Amino acid sequence: MSAQERSDVAVASTGLGAIDRGAARPRLDDKAMINCRADVNQLLPLKYRWAWERYLSACNNHWMPTEVSMQADIALWRSRDGLSEDERRMVKRNLGFFAASESLVANNIVLAIYRHLTNPECRQYLLRQAFEEAIHTHTFQYICESLGLDEGELFNMYREVPSITDKASWALKYTQHLSDPHFETGTPETDTAFLRDLVAFYVVFEGMWFYTGFAQILSLGRRNKMVGIAEQYQYILRDESLHLNFGIDVINQIRAENPHLWTTALQEEVRQMLHDACDLEIAYGRDTMPRGLLGLNADLCAQYMHNIANRRCAQLGLEAVFPDTPNPFAWMAEAMDIKKEKNFFETRVTEYQTGSSLKW
Ligand SMILES: [Fe+2]
Ligand SMILES: [Fe+2]
Repeated sequence: MSAQERSDVAVASTGLGAIDRGAARPRLDDKAMINCRADVNQLLPLKYRWAWERYLSACNNHWMPTEVSMQADIALWRSRDGLSEDERRMVKRNLGFFAASESLVANNIVLAIYRHLTNPECRQYLLRQAFEEAIHTHTFQYICESLGLDEGELFNMYREVPSITDKASWALKYTQHLSDPHFETGTPETDTAFLRDLVAFYVVFEGMWFYTGFAQILSLGRRNKMVGIAEQYQYILRDESLHLNFGIDVINQIRAENPHLWTTALQEEVRQMLHDACDLEIAYGRDTMPRGLLGLNADLCAQYMHNIANRRCAQLGLEAVFPDTPNPFAWMAEAMDIKKEKNFFETRVTEYQTGSSLKW
């Protein structure tokens, strides 16, 4: 694309430029994932039905953290010997990692991804996802308040605990230049930078790093400890599975429309990114569980991360980074398949789909 075309795309992608009075109606073929000049204010006609379907699924998953009772968690947290010192340390570091990460992910969507993904049905999903990230951040506020945790310790942890800082700063280097107001897609270099950001946040941050955290808390929940937080994490896990799958679809659709971007060099780079992400996660595992607990330890978490990295490679059509690594936490696969969770919906106190909450 020429510099003029790139600048036209940059204006069109905001949907806020001067209105082209009487302009022709956009056709399906005019729509594209990136570098599109078709009007982003027109959702229909739908080109990417998968994005719309994911938006509908997300809306059907609505929940609020305050619907979950924290009474049992509060009692356990306050009791002198309800949790071991190792369990407390793990819970606090886990909460500290998520508390800031949810905001990092939200800011990346709103300030970096949204502007460059030039398709209205994908943006519809991004708007929903951004709200879900706000709900997730709300969850950590609610937990902090319920348990009476030190809010500074929790929310500043990503700047104080090196293994958490290392993960956040690894991801941030992929989004920093995208959020630069002068960054424009439309060259192979900048389009590739956009793909790298999608991999760093959707595949690594939400698709790999959240999973050790889910395993830690759900493992406590399976032992009847911190059951309120465990239930909230199940809801978050359900949301995050959709976020990950949306991200994979976006990357694969951009690849299909721009095959020149998916070079052998970029494929190798993505595999290396997943490899590095595993190393960072293993350091975090050792930091949060120096002695092992609840059937989890740093070595099993490393194996779990390798298994997940291989699954992400398969989703992106790449060769496995750590071939033949079985999943050591088979029970997590069950926790993720929400349909198998018999009590999942029964614990809900509000039925959003009936519209009963609309009584004034
Ligand atoms: Fe989230
Ligand atoms: Fe997410």
